[in-house]
Amino acid sequence: MDIRQILINLISNAVKFTDAGEILVSIKKAEEHCSPFTIENTNVQISVKDTGIGIEKEKQTEIFRAYEQGDYDIRNKYGGSGLGLSIVKGIVEDMRGSISLVSESGKGSTFFVDINLKNVTKNKKNHPYRLGEQV
Ligand SMILES: Nc1ncnc2c1ncn2[C@@H]1O[C@H](COP(=O)(O)OP(=O)(O)O)[C@@H](O)[C@H]1O
Ligand SMILES: [Mg+2]
Repeated sequence: MDIRQILINLISNAVKFTDAGEILVSIKKAEEHCSPFTIENTNVQISVKDTGIGIEKEKQTEIFRAYEQGDYDIRNKYGGSGLGLSIVKGIVEDMRGSISLVSESGKGSTFFVDINLKNVTKNKKNHPYRLGEQV
């Protein structure tokens, strides 16, 4: 559920704030922790990159706080609650991971989430199989 929630929020923001171009979602394994036998103790970096409106330098910290939405024009044009990123940050930090952002106003944004798969909640009820099980 955790990873699903992170992806839903970051991808829907990317779609919402990108009128033209592309959205690229990628997951990379951090090399130094690679294990060929199990995914249980593997660091991964999820990134969601878009070619949308971008985020001004001064706003790049505060948008992770609840109800923060950039300036009035953005709030007015795109709507929303300003809760998505604060929820993502909370989930990521509960998993002892980190979230960061590289963006330039007008030139798109990339959100990075670094987590260890061993800290991802295993929720049998919501998944047909558990993380780490062979299918
Ligand atoms: N991919 C993105 N591109 C540009 N701005 C973004 C992006 N993701 C988030 N933001 C900025 O961060 C603010 C907070 O995002 P979020 O917490 O998801 O709230 P909401 O989507 O409801 O406005 C947004 O209002 C927007 O200003
Ligand atoms: Mg949002």
